[in-house]
Amino acid sequence: MSGAAVRAFRPVTIAVDPPRAGGPAAFRWDVAGDPRDPLAVALRHASRRDAEPAVAVVLGTAHRSGDSAVLLEGIARAGASGGRRLVLLHRGAGGGSLLRSAALESPGLRVAVLELPVRDAGPGLPARIARLARGAAPGAELRVAGDGTVTRTGWRAVTLPEPPVPSGGPARPGGAALITGGLGGLGLRAAAVLSAVRGYRPVLLDTTAPGELPPRAAALLCRLCDAPPGADVLTADVTDHRAVARVLGRVPLPVRAVVHCAGVVAGGPVADARARDLDALAAPKADGLGTVLDVLDPGALRHLVVFGSVTARVAHRQLGGYGLANELLRREALRRAAALPRCATVVAEWSLWSGAGRAHEMGAVGQARRMGMAPVPLAPGMAALLRLLRWPAGARAAGAVVLTGPGEDATFPPEEADGRGNSPT
Ligand SMILES: NC(=O)c1ccc[n+]([C@@H]2O[C@H](COP(=O)([O-])OP(=O)(O)OC[C@H]3O[C@@H](n4cnc5c(N)ncnc54)[C@H](OP(=O)(O)O)[C@@H]3O)[C@@H](O)[C@H]2O)c1
Repeated sequence: MSGAAVRAFRPVTIAVDPPRAGGPAAFRWDVAGDPRDPLAVALRHASRRDAEPAVAVVLGTAHRSGDSAVLLEGIARAGASGGRRLVLLHRGAGGGSLLRSAALESPGLRVAVLELPVRDAGPGLPARIARLARGAAPGAELRVAGDGTVTRTGWRAVTLPEPPVPSGGPARPGGAALITGGLGGLGLRAAAVLSAVRGYRPVLLDTTAPGELPPRAAALLCRLCDAPPGADVLTADVTDHRAVARVLGRVPLPVRAVVHCAGVVAGGPVADARARDLDALAAPKADGLGTVLDVLDPGALRHLVVFGSVTARVAHRQLGGYGLANELLRREALRRAAALPRCATVVAEWSLWSGAGRAHEMGAVGQARRMGMAPVPLAPGMAALLRLLRWPAGARAAGAVVLTGPGEDATFPPEEADGRGNSPT
């Protein structure tokens, strides 16, 4: 593998000063979400007719069926209201990525995202929410802990774990590596690397059948199947539990590693998105990961590398739905890591790739460069994947890492505001 290394960034928690007392602590709330949710009830009670209008979207601990519609409803109502202020309040369900893209596409829409403790902290909460939302930087995503501490995410450049020490030949760990979306541009390359360098037998799971592959990908697949230790191709929809259980039941080797690449890309303004479009984007990612982990033996699994996207972290025009799918994927992966104590779980939130993959095929790399992005070249990206296979095991070590190409990326890390609306001088 040659070429300059990709750059890696880990999220870090940064304390945010508590909201100052005094000043208006109320909004005229228009609440979207389950009207029986105690927080929705509290906001309606605290709403003041003479206060600035604001739309609140209230969601729970995990993204549920219907939540995409609630997010879109909140965005539409805020766009139509005079105040154009939108506050997402959730306890783990997420959705901030979609709202940030909506704000980017709709100047004047002011968005704040507050992740609240699972158990709400008493009657003063609506006033605290109002103060936090009013003081927050545009698009800020703040977390409020049970003790009232407020934090936001910052970014720290890190070195990925050391690559495997080269030996005389590929390691022979004796097991299979499942690559979902394995016949896609990156899945096929990931399979080749896992086979050649790590010695796993790749199991490629995809909705695409091998016979549908274009000639270059078909040739890659042939080479992979012919080289030791061989490869298996399984055709199934990763969201179909029965189909996944049936095809994985035929894999004779224990599945030691999963690289979850299944996904679809679709763009378009958030204002034009329908809930079913958002759900279709999220399904192969978040739901698909859940399906695979439900079917596999968790005790055998040693590595879980999930292919996410930087669009879950910073807003990109036309990619709000894709960003949401990747945010939900990250949240699902980190939730599921708790039940995988012997597994190293990492969510790789890639910038776009050059040299292979859907963005490359769509001709998006040149435009991304003009926007100041640093695409991830194929060889350094695959070298980074190998280093991610050295991620430490255990639920406490599970985490996410943003990966951009070599050199400066003008879009990541994002300019740091302090969460209270102040940019660094
Ligand atoms: N390429 C990039 O620049 C980039 C950047 C950041 C993150 N990522 C992520 O990396 C992953 C791989 O990207 P890629 O560029 O290799 O994309 P790709 O070439 O489109 O590969 C994705 C594969 O997943 C398959 N798939 C979609 N839905 C599925 C389902 N429900 N069940 C099973 N397989 C399904 C696709 O089949 P169909 O073709 O039949 O839909 C396709 O073969 C994706 O999750 C993507 O979001 C890519």
